Amino acid sequence: MADTQKTAQLTIGDQSYDLPIHSPTEGPDVIDIRKLYGQAGVFTYDPGFTSTAACDSTITYIDGDAGVLLHRGYPIDQLAGKSHYLEVCFLLLYGYLPTAAELETFENTITRHTMIHEQMHNFFRGFRRDAHPMATMVGVVGAMSAFYHDSTDISDERQREIASHRLIAKMPTIAAMAYKYSIGQPFVYPRNDLDYAANFLHMCFAVPAEEYVVDPILARAMDRIFTLHADHEQNASTSTVRLASSSGANPFACIAAGIACLWGPAHGGANQACLEMLKEIGSVDRIPEYIARAKDKNDPFRLMGFGHRVYKNFDPRATVMKQSADEVLDLLGVENNPVLAVAKELERAALEDPYFAEKKLFPNVDFYSGIILEAMGFPTSMFTPIFALSRTVGWISQWKEQLADPQMKIGRPRQLYMGETARDYVDIENR
Ligand code: SDX
Repeated sequence: MADTQKTAQLTIGDQSYDLPIHSPTEGPDVIDIRKLYGQAGVFTYDPGFTSTAACDSTITYIDGDAGVLLHRGYPIDQLAGKSHYLEVCFLLLYGYLPTAAELETFENTITRHTMIHEQMHNFFRGFRRDAHPMATMVGVVGAMSAFYHDSTDISDERQREIASHRLIAKMPTIAAMAYKYSIGQPFVYPRNDLDYAANFLHMCFAVPAEEYVVDPILARAMDRIFTLHADHEQNASTSTVRLASSSGANPFACIAAGIACLWGPAHGGANQACLEMLKEIGSVDRIPEYIARAKDKNDPFRLMGFGHRVYKNFDPRATVMKQSADEVLDLLGVENNPVLAVAKELERAALEDPYFAEKKLFPNVDFYSGIILEAMGFPTSMFTPIFALSRTVGWISQWKEQLADPQMKIGRPRQLYMGETARDYVDIENR
């Protein structure tokens, strides 16, 4: 971060404290409060970290007011239109766009790490068939630390790189296996002759009884969904991965923690919740009823796929995703998809409603992704596993960045204690 001579002055009673201000390459200045408790004996208070920068990073920049998302400086719409997921993975991991030779080497490495240890197949069989695939992914990814001991030493840079490659390569295999297990079909092994997205679709939809040919347009749409979900600054699941990593936990345990956090409907689970909401609405004539519920303070209902902690403008990913939804549905001949009709009318009605305008609630990345995924044949239970698969490169890039940060120390927030003051134990006969 850029050191400035600027300082913020904090006055408490008759004491004043100078707090250094650091300026970023993009975005707001930060006030450095690391010495505040030592100097003034006070904590700052920021539940939900709405105004807190937990780290410095060079990976992703978001401007929520302008609806901007940059990965290593490159705008998301350019990457979604001109790049592809594994090239974006290289960019996020190493900080620059690869040469053709570097990209070929990287893609070959990922392709040749897509199988998981055969013994790990048994983990899936310990779950009920109706287990949510996210439960399976949390369990199996965490269990990778029991198999890949040669890439759990986080102090070894080469082991960190091998773990990064293994996770990026194996997540599609694990997600596809979770899906196959949930529908009672046999696992399909990865194929090295297919690209990353086509391989995932093949592992999900191929069956031993006949050949399955991946439609290149669906593979392109799948790859674009991966790219749009790759990283997103210090969101809840990334912050979970960083906090887990700060204790020295191995990479597989940290990513399993990130998957667990992503599962929540306020975060990565919103794509599943959004499609279920669109189906519950069912027809455009019921939209006013649901918009009224979303505005009703006494009703906990929220429009899934709307709103964002950072974006107070359109989520740039949603814009690209909406274009992709039109393309995929046209290709599949389901452009008259009733769910898409409800989604487009709901978006129009919400954006015209003063409530959503004043609260700056716009469609986010999860609003259209579910429509595409369902049209591609995925059940809603696979939406968040696909999000987790895509976000693994972001989690692992942030994990690597934090481990290389000389300032890194274990994350240990404090609290505003509002409980009982000290009191003596009362024997049970006196209670
Ligand atoms: C993701 O952080 C990331 O970057 C996440 C993500 C990523 O790539 O990692 O972008 C992925 O998680 C996208 C968000 C997916 N979640 C949803 O779509 C669930 C629905 N959205 C809401 O739950 C909510 O908008 C959040 C959780 C996303 C953000 O909530 P905030 O920032 O904590 O805002 P808030 O809850 O304080 O809401 C502010 C106001 C409130 O009204 P008031 O109390 O001020 O009167 O807006 C209202 C809320 O009631 N509001 C909504 C709403 N979202 C917020 N009202 C109706 N419907 C909604 N969806």
